[in-house]
Amino acid sequence: MIIGFLREKDIFENRSMLLPEHVSSIIKLGFKILVEKNYAKKLGLEDEMFIKVGAEVKSESDITSLSDIIIKISGKNLDSYKFKDGTIVITAFFDKDNDKLFKLKNDNNIKIFGLNYLPRITRAQAMDVLSSQSNLAGYKAVIDTAYEFSKALPMMMTAAGTITPAKYFIVGAGVAGLQAIATAKRLGAVVSATDVRLASKEQVESLGAKFVFVDSDENLETEGGYAKEATKNYKKKQEELIKQTVKNQDVIITTALIPGRKAPLIINEEMVLSMKPGSVICDLATSQGGNVAFSERDKVIEKNGIKIIGYSNYASRTSYSASSLLTKNIINFLTLLVNKDSKTIDIDYEDEIIKGVKI
Ligand code: NAI
Repeated sequence: MIIGFLREKDIFENRSMLLPEHVSSIIKLGFKILVEKNYAKKLGLEDEMFIKVGAEVKSESDITSLSDIIIKISGKNLDSYKFKDGTIVITAFFDKDNDKLFKLKNDNNIKIFGLNYLPRITRAQAMDVLSSQSNLAGYKAVIDTAYEFSKALPMMMTAAGTITPAKYFIVGAGVAGLQAIATAKRLGAVVSATDVRLASKEQVESLGAKFVFVDSDENLETEGGYAKEATKNYKKKQEELIKQTVKNQDVIITTALIPGRKAPLIINEEMVLSMKPGSVICDLATSQGGNVAFSERDKVIEKNGIKIIGYSNYASRTSYSASSLLTKNIINFLTLLVNKDSKTIDIDYEDEIIKGVKI
């Protein structure tokens, strides 16, 4: 079995899906590994480091013409490659709504998997790219806001006087939001958070943050644990609650997403402008349209003295840790595809996980 790792072409993508320290685990599964020239150059890793541990370095066209399985982070522009017949292309992030499939589908029996469609079940956790990357995104958002904020985060009592702790408000308490809460708490900030899913209240409070919640009978959680789009009435109540909350905050981090939909606009223009100059907002939803008025994708802008951070590929800002977790995610997924005894690709298309990720 030959597995090929293709380099990412997006300028904002610094991650890779294989690190030299994990090459041996994939070889043990029975694979011969090919990596594209300069595969992890953005992480400061030279090709020789992959060669030393048993991988082969090849050109893009060699990899696509030889590999049985291709690994890529992004599912964008797959139609620009010439895969051999029957190739299995595993992407970490595939966008069913936007990524071009038409030509591929009709070409040569290419099978595409998108790990971002894994079901959120216990067995799939070790392969869950959304969780592994969102967790780092939440962490890095706190680091970035602390960097842009001109005050200290923890309370400091000094001989010269007392510095009050920074107030952080986290919108959306999923994987990224919970890590943002934990990180901001560790740095000494006073943290509050909100979410539309009632289940998140206990999780927020267990991290020592205050839960701010709309008083409503509606629980906007799907059976899969995701958020539903809020009703008009709920949105109105949420708007009032958030309006009252944000004006007293120093830093806001928004992580609110609804799978397959545009992100809800939660911090509107009036709310942004009600904050004190020097405040910082980090919008983790800019890839889906954004939760914050004025935020611009992949830019840090300033509005009335308020900084708004809008990086869209947040996990890529902790590129080494993110690559390490992505590599482990993919190794765990590969074990599902391989028959350990015969060392052949043997996919159970009835498996709930495979059904979920098959595009
Ligand atoms: P996500 O990235 O889809 O959304 C982030 C958060 O924003 C969610 O908590 C969501 O409820 C919230 N949100 C959406 N719209 C909002 C609005 N209008 N106002 C305020 N908050 C809003 O979510 P993520 O991080 O992927 O987690 C989704 C669920 O999956 C969570 O319940 C999480 O605990 C669960 N999960 C389960 C796993 C498992 O294997 N059992 C693994 C990872 C996550």
